[in-house]
Amino acid sequence: MLCGRWTVLNQQQLRTFDENGFLVLEKLFSSRKISALREAAVEIVEDFDIERHRTVFRTDDRDAGRDDYFFDSAENVHCFLEDGALDESGELIRPKNLAINKIGHAMHDRIPEFTAFCRQPVIGEILRDLGLEAPQLWQTMYIFKQPSIGGEVRWHQDASYLITHPASVTGLWVAIEDATRDNGCLWMQPGEHRSPLREIYRVDWETREGLLTGLDSTPWAVEKAVPVEAPAGSLVLFHDHMPHYSSVNTSSKSRHAFTMHVSDSRARWSDENWLQRPNLGVFEL
Ligand code: FE2
Repeated sequence: MLCGRWTVLNQQQLRTFDENGFLVLEKLFSSRKISALREAAVEIVEDFDIERHRTVFRTDDRDAGRDDYFFDSAENVHCFLEDGALDESGELIRPKNLAINKIGHAMHDRIPEFTAFCRQPVIGEILRDLGLEAPQLWQTMYIFKQPSIGGEVRWHQDASYLITHPASVTGLWVAIEDATRDNGCLWMQPGEHRSPLREIYRVDWETREGLLTGLDSTPWAVEKAVPVEAPAGSLVLFHDHMPHYSSVNTSSKSRHAFTMHVSDSRARWSDENWLQRPNLGVFEL
C-alpha cells in the first residue's frame, strides 16, 4: 500500500479479484445515486426518436448488425432496440420505454448525471487499488434487460471488443435494480480470466466494416459458471478476459444496469477498436 493513499479495497478483496477475475461490492452506491441514473436514462428514452432509428442490439449474429449508428455512438448517446420489441415486418410491438435494449456509449461525456456518477472519487480509487495507474473511461452503457424480452448476451470476453496493448480493460457493472437468476443476472466463470482470448472484433475504417474473428478454440468452461446475483447499488468489477453471459429475461421484472469500461493510460488503445473518440478525447478518472 502506498503511504498516505486512501484505499477502498482490502487485501482479501484484491486477492478475490486476482483469483476469480471478478469481485462484487454489495450496495456500494446509495439509492439516491442509483435513482439519479435511472431517471436520467428514462429521460433519454423519452427524447429518443424511435421512428428515425430502428437499430437492434443483438449478440447472436457474430456482430454482423453493427452499423454507422452503432459506431457513431462511441461519442454520442444512442438508443438500441430489443429484438423482441419488433415484429417480423420491423414494426414496434411495445411501448417505447419497454422496447430499448440499451443506451450507449458516451453518457459520461454528454449527460451530467452520468458524468457526476463516474467522477465519484471512489471509482478512481478502486481502479487504482486494482493496479491501474491512470484509469481512462472509454464507454458507458445503460442496459435495460426488459421484462419478458430482454435479450441474451452470449458468452464473450470484453477484451474481444475493447482492445488495448497490452490488455488492460476493467469492466464495472452497477446494479440499478436487483439482479437475480430470474431476471437475467450476469454469469461468470471464476478463474477463467486466465484463459485465452477466444475472439477479436476489429473494424476496417476504410470500409467501416467490423469483423469478429476466432483466435482460440478453447471451449467456454460453462461447467464453472456461477450466477452473479447482486442487489441494487452493487458494483461488480471484472477482468477483460473473464467470460461472461446473461440469459434472456423471461421474468416480469426488468434488470437495469449501468456499465463502465476503463483502460490504463500505460496501454495503447487499438486503432482497430470499434470505439474511437477523436473528438471527445481522454476521460480520466
Ligand atoms: Fe461484456
